[in-house]
Amino acid sequence: METLIPIINRLQEVFLTVGADFIQLPQIVVVGSQSSGKSSVLESLVGRDFLPRGSGIVTRRPLVLQLINVAPLEQRGQAENGNGIKTNAQDSYPGIKVEEWGTFLHCKGQVFADFVAIRKEIEKETERSSGDNKGISPEPIYLKIFSPKVLNLTLVDLPGITKVPVGDQPEDIEAQVHEMIQSFISNPNSLILAVSPANSDLATSEALKLARDVDPDGRRTLLVVSKLDLMDAGTDALEVLLGRVIPVRLGIIGVVNRSQHDINTQRSMEESLQGEQTFLQRHYPSLASRCGSRHLAKTLSRLLMHHIRDCLPELKSRVTVLSGQYQARLSGYGRPVEDHSATLLHIVTKFASDYCNTIEGTPRYIQTTELCGGARICY
Ligand code: GDP
Ligand code: NA
Ligand code: MG
Repeated sequence: METLIPIINRLQEVFLTVGADFIQLPQIVVVGSQSSGKSSVLESLVGRDFLPRGSGIVTRRPLVLQLINVAPLEQRGQAENGNGIKTNAQDSYPGIKVEEWGTFLHCKGQVFADFVAIRKEIEKETERSSGDNKGISPEPIYLKIFSPKVLNLTLVDLPGITKVPVGDQPEDIEAQVHEMIQSFISNPNSLILAVSPANSDLATSEALKLARDVDPDGRRTLLVVSKLDLMDAGTDALEVLLGRVIPVRLGIIGVVNRSQHDINTQRSMEESLQGEQTFLQRHYPSLASRCGSRHLAKTLSRLLMHHIRDCLPELKSRVTVLSGQYQARLSGYGRPVEDHSATLLHIVTKFASDYCNTIEGTPRYIQTTELCGGARICY
């Protein structure tokens, strides 16, 4: 994901300069049965340890997690970059003296610089609306994470699919959770991460079933097979990972998330990722390069890149129009007028040739109509 950040930031500058809204990246939604590892998968994507996880129903309200890329602390507040192009106004956060922080919609004006405090606040807010006895609520918690290390991206963590009501859960808990999940994944601008544990039968995967309902052609569903490390002795997930059990158009990626023991002993993210890689090399040598959390992040980056590529023609024509207007003004005034459009066009064209033309052979995954730069783009 990190490689995408500078690219997106460059493009964002172009968008701001031509007065267009920034490309709306798809939101990534995790779906799966309870304790399949959804929150864990999201965490390894963000690279930070701050979501409540554990056995049983831990995620009881949707969490809409908006990641916002900001300049590193020492560069914040600078108005222009080297090209004389105005940088994103969001880059300056007066008064905030930390590299990464979070804010909640329900805690106006409060800055959370500590990720442990963020997790505690999610837990507290969950209890406030859904009680302390396993109740659920469809009302999302909105959390923003600001960091130089994240992409501008929205991730949605959802309660797991569950069949039998426990604690304060209503009789129709299954239907309620289904409805909640459906409301997020039916958005055509959602990319669905269907999380299914390797130690249960993929054919019965509730996650895939739900994803199929809203995305029958599989254009925006990626299957994540979690808990590869928890399979019975003598079994493996090779057939599943190769797509021989159920094919998934955008891909099937096996992962090893942090175990409860890892969480309890506060094993670091870095160490866990390394452990995952070692596990994959040992047990799935032929697939190791196509599995793992890092590969999942790369795959998502590639899918996002496709999305951006699809928005480029519109951006290019906007820049061209703008350039024409500047030229007209130039000749009208008979004196120099500042013109950045050549630089802008160069950035867009370079982006297209460097990054987009090299990505081929993967199906377009998203079928949507969205507002992009004021014009409706359909694809
Ligand atoms: P969720 O309910 O789907 O959000 O699942 P969580 O992410 O909360 O994980 C549930 C439990 O399973 C936690 O104790 C995790 O540590 C554990 N877990 C998740 N993924 C894996 C995995 O790949 N391997 C192992 N060993 N444990 C995992
Ligand atoms: Na859980
Ligand atoms: Mg969860």
